[in-house]
Amino acid sequence: MKRAKAILGIETSCDETAAAVVTDDGHVLSNVLDSQGSVHARFGGVVPELASRRHLERIEDLVHIAMQQADCTWTDLVAIAVTHGPGLAGALLVGLNFGKALAYASRVPLIAVNHLKGHLASAWLAHLDFPRPAIMLVVSGGHTHLYYTERAGQYDLLGKTVDDAAGEAFDKGAKMLGLGYPGGPALDRVARTGSPAAVHFPRPFLKQKGLDFSFSGLKTALLYYLRNLERSGAAPPVADIAASYQEAIVDVLVQKALRAARSYAVKGLAVVGGVAANSRLRTRLAEQTAQEDLCLVMPPLHLCTDNAAMIAAAGWEEFRLGRLASWDVDVAPNLALSRSSQDSEITSIALD
Ligand code: KG4
Ligand code: ZN
Repeated sequence: MKRAKAILGIETSCDETAAAVVTDDGHVLSNVLDSQGSVHARFGGVVPELASRRHLERIEDLVHIAMQQADCTWTDLVAIAVTHGPGLAGALLVGLNFGKALAYASRVPLIAVNHLKGHLASAWLAHLDFPRPAIMLVVSGGHTHLYYTERAGQYDLLGKTVDDAAGEAFDKGAKMLGLGYPGGPALDRVARTGSPAAVHFPRPFLKQKGLDFSFSGLKTALLYYLRNLERSGAAPPVADIAASYQEAIVDVLVQKALRAARSYAVKGLAVVGGVAANSRLRTRLAEQTAQEDLCLVMPPLHLCTDNAAMIAAAGWEEFRLGRLASWDVDVAPNLALSRSSQDSEITSIALD
């Protein structure tokens, strides 16, 4: 390769084993992953022990493939960035220890990446000149968090879900509708042929002034709606119910994100994380920001769902801020991101 300096990113926080190489200027040289969907599908959710075992089986190969596809040698790396939380403890342990050993053996610094910062950094990969100040919405299986950011790697939490995450609402809704696993993409697919106005579902917290979210009431509304249908026997097509339920989630996400963008008078709005792959959310955001003086960034689908390129990208942000991990850094399954300056476990590294 042309000897550009690069960071190797490793991600094993849940059910994707992933490795990627990203250069200083945001070039993704490789981005490979092994998705465990088929391993967990028959259980209807991720089984932690199976996830760890599969990470262990696949990690070495994936890192090797990522380095090979990037045409990269160990001396081309300036650091190795690994997700250390939040996520499943056993799954995180595999990636963190593998990355730690690689970094130690290659004598490069280790960067412990908060998975949420990974999702946030995917906006940089999608749009290298992403303007700041900006509002960023992380919508994934475990998070619905709204941030304000003035510079890369530094995020202030404005609001978050008080109960379920948007991805959970999609997954649980899909399960109730018998749409299979993983639920979010299945519901998205079915809803494309349905009418979003067929059934009215509540828009929780939409009328409240703040920027917090709540989705558990919506899930309960769907449950009661389906129970009533069983009794009455007159059911609209599943596509209509799915489209209407999806519309309620999308409405809340779009309106709260825009409310934040307007009240903070920002230049950029990014929506990242697995749920940002939702086709209706993407269409509605594009439509509703068309008239605004706002740069909207929604990363391509493969950068929305979990991947290692975003971890390498966040690795660059941390590296530039001098935030390197110590060798005794541990996994942090409940790691939060409220203010980046409050991050723990980040200390200077000693290579000897
Ligand atoms: O970011 P991600 O891959 O993993 C976590 O960090 O959680 O997000 C996974 C979540 C799941 O809840 C999944 O159902 C949802 O993102 N998701 C979607 C779509 N694709 C993934 N939800 C709605 N529509 C989609 N197209
Ligand atoms: Zn994620």
